[in-house]
Amino acid sequence: MARDCGFEECQVLKTHGCGQLRAEHAGEQVTLAGWVHRRRDHGGLVFLDLRDSTGLVQVVVHPDAAPAFEAASDVRSEYVVQVQGQVVARRDGTENPEMPTGSIEVAATSIVVLNEADTPPFPVNQETDVVEATRLRYRYLDLRRERMQRNLRLRHQVTQFIRQFMDADGFIEVETPVLGLATPEGARDYLVPSRVHPGAFYALPQSPQQWKQLLMVAGVDKYYQIARCYRDEDLRGDRQPEFTQLDVEMAFVEQEDVLDLAERLYLGLCQEVGGFTYPETFPRLTYAECMERFGTDKPDTRYGLEIHDLSGYVRNSEFQVFAKVVQEGGRVRGFAVPGAADVSRRGLDALTEVARDAGASGLVWVQFAGEGPLDGLAADDIKTPIARFFSPDDLAALGKACGAKRGDLLLIAAGPDALTSRVLDVLRRQVAEERDLADPERLDFLFVTEFPAFEWDEDGERWSAVHHLFTAPFPEDVALLESDPGAVRSNAYDLVCNGQEIASGSIRIHSRETQLAVLRTLGLTLEEAQMKFGHMLEAFRYGAPPHGGIAPGLDRTVALFAGERDIREVIAFPKTKSASDLLTGAPAGVTPEQLAEVHILLDEEARQALAARATGVHGADEDDA
Ligand code: AMO
Repeated sequence: MARDCGFEECQVLKTHGCGQLRAEHAGEQVTLAGWVHRRRDHGGLVFLDLRDSTGLVQVVVHPDAAPAFEAASDVRSEYVVQVQGQVVARRDGTENPEMPTGSIEVAATSIVVLNEADTPPFPVNQETDVVEATRLRYRYLDLRRERMQRNLRLRHQVTQFIRQFMDADGFIEVETPVLGLATPEGARDYLVPSRVHPGAFYALPQSPQQWKQLLMVAGVDKYYQIARCYRDEDLRGDRQPEFTQLDVEMAFVEQEDVLDLAERLYLGLCQEVGGFTYPETFPRLTYAECMERFGTDKPDTRYGLEIHDLSGYVRNSEFQVFAKVVQEGGRVRGFAVPGAADVSRRGLDALTEVARDAGASGLVWVQFAGEGPLDGLAADDIKTPIARFFSPDDLAALGKACGAKRGDLLLIAAGPDALTSRVLDVLRRQVAEERDLADPERLDFLFVTEFPAFEWDEDGERWSAVHHLFTAPFPEDVALLESDPGAVRSNAYDLVCNGQEIASGSIRIHSRETQLAVLRTLGLTLEEAQMKFGHMLEAFRYGAPPHGGIAPGLDRTVALFAGERDIREVIAFPKTKSASDLLTGAPAGVTPEQLAEVHILLDEEARQALAARATGVHGADEDDA
C-alpha cells in the first residue's frame, strides 16, 4: 500500500516490524522503519540496531551500498530512519541467540532519515538507573525503554483479559460520570468549579461507588467498569492521585459470590500472565485473625514470622515492663526469626530503632545459640537483655510458644494491641526484607473478611466508617449501632497479596432504615444525611435489591504481575508524590479571565505561590518525584 509520508523516497513506510523477522524471511526484500537503538562502526561496516514496538533487528550497511552507507555514518541514537534491504542469514558464529531476530540481519540498500533526534537526556537503549524526575520530565523517552514497553503491554494484556472474563461472566460495562457529587472514600475530593452555577462545584469521583449502587437499583445486576478514580491524598509507592479501578457490582449476591468472582478472576490472571506460583484457592482470614497472626490486615504471607501471644508467660514475671503491661490490659507478643541467632548487636539496635519509630518504647530480643529444639538450655546458650528476670526454662518457653528452635531470634513487643500489632508488623516486614524471605515469584493471595464497621477518629472525635458508609453491618450487630459502634462487624472484605491491599469491597446496605442508622452512628443529622445522600436514600425507596461488589486497583494488580514495587512503573504518565505532572507542568496557573469565568478569586497565598512557580521552568517540585 502506497502511503505519503512526506518523503518522496518512501512510498511504503514499512513492510515488517523490526522484531518480526526470522530465518524464514531470508532472501526477502523488506522495508523497515523505527528508531536507531545503537550504531556501531566495525572497520568499514556500519551496524545499526533498529527498534520499533515489535523489537530489535540488526541492520548491516556495506560501504559499497554508497548512499545508504553515507546516511548510516551520519545517524545517531534515536534518529528515526527507514531502511530498505534484504534479509540475510547471519554467518555461523555471528548469530545472537539472545535476540529473537538474532539469526538474521538486514543488508541495507537504502537508509532514509525520517527525523533527527537530539541526544536524549538519558540512554534509551539501556536499563540504567535514571533520576525519577528526569524520567517523568521526559516520559515519552522513558516509555521507549524496554522495561516500560513491557509494562505497558502487560497492562494491556491484563485489561484485555479482564474485559473478556467479565463479559464471559455476564457483566456489562457501564460508564459513569466523572463530574459528580462528592463520594466519601476517606480522601479529599478534587473539585471542579462550575461556570454556569456560580459557587457550585463538581467533585471528581473517588470511586464510582454511588453510581454502581444506583445501577443495581436500575436493574443492571452485573456491572463492571474500568474506571478512573481521583483522590487528593498523601501519595506513596502504591498511591496515585488518579488511578484505575476495576469497579464491580452485583445484585442478589452474598459475600461468598463476590469473593468467588474475585478469586476466579485473579486465578485466571495468574494463568494468563504466567511466571508465578499462587494458591489454588485463596485462604479467607477474618480481620481479627489477621491482626492476631500478622499485626496487619494486609499481611505478606510468603514468609512465616507469625506473631504469638506471650502474655500468659510473663504476667507474673519479675520483669515489671512486661508484667505491668499485661496487668493493665495490654499484651506481650512476639515472633521468632529462624536462623537469626547470630544477628549482631548493631543489627539488633537497628531493629530496636525500627520498633521505636513505629511507636514502641523498646524491643526485647532473645537469641538461642546452637541447633535443635529448645530443650535443656543453659544460661550460656541464651543472649538477651532480660536474662536476669527469666530462667533459661522460662525463656525457652517463650521461644517454644513462638515456634523457635536453637539458632533462632525472638523479637518481643509489649503494649496495647494496636501498638504491638503496628510494631510487630513493621518488624516482620523489615526482617523479611533484610533476610530476603519473600519469594519474588510467589503471589500469595488471601481474602480478609469481617472487618470492624467503624473506627474512632480521635481528631474528629467521632466514629468513621472503616470501609465506607454504604457497607452493610452484620445483621446480628445492627442492634449495636447506637450502643457500641466499635463492636459492629461489617460485611466488608479485602483481597490482599504479598502485603498489599489489591481490592476492597463489601455487601451494601439496601435498606433506607439501616442506611439512616449508619449515617446517625457517623454523626450525621437527618438534614445532613438528606443533603449529602438524599438521592441514595430516595433510590432505596424504589425496590433496591440486595447487592454487593468489589473494586480491585488495576495499577496495583498490574504492578504485582510486572514485579514492580511502585505503581508509577505501570502507569504511562504518572504524577509525582506532590501530584504534579513534570512533563506538562500541571497543575498550572490559569488566566485571570478563566478564573473570573468560574467565579474564583485567589487569596494572597495562592497568588504568591503562582508567581513563584512562574519563575521556575517546569514546576518547583522536581526533586520530590
Ligand atoms: P477502596 O477505597 O478500598 O474501595 O479502593 C479499592 C482499591 O483501589 C485501589 N486504590 C488505589 N490505587 C492507587 N492509588 C490510590 N490512591 C488508590 N486508592 C485505592 C486499591 C484499593 O484496594 N468503592 C470502594 C470499592 C467497593 O466497595 O466496591 C473503594 O473505592 O487497590
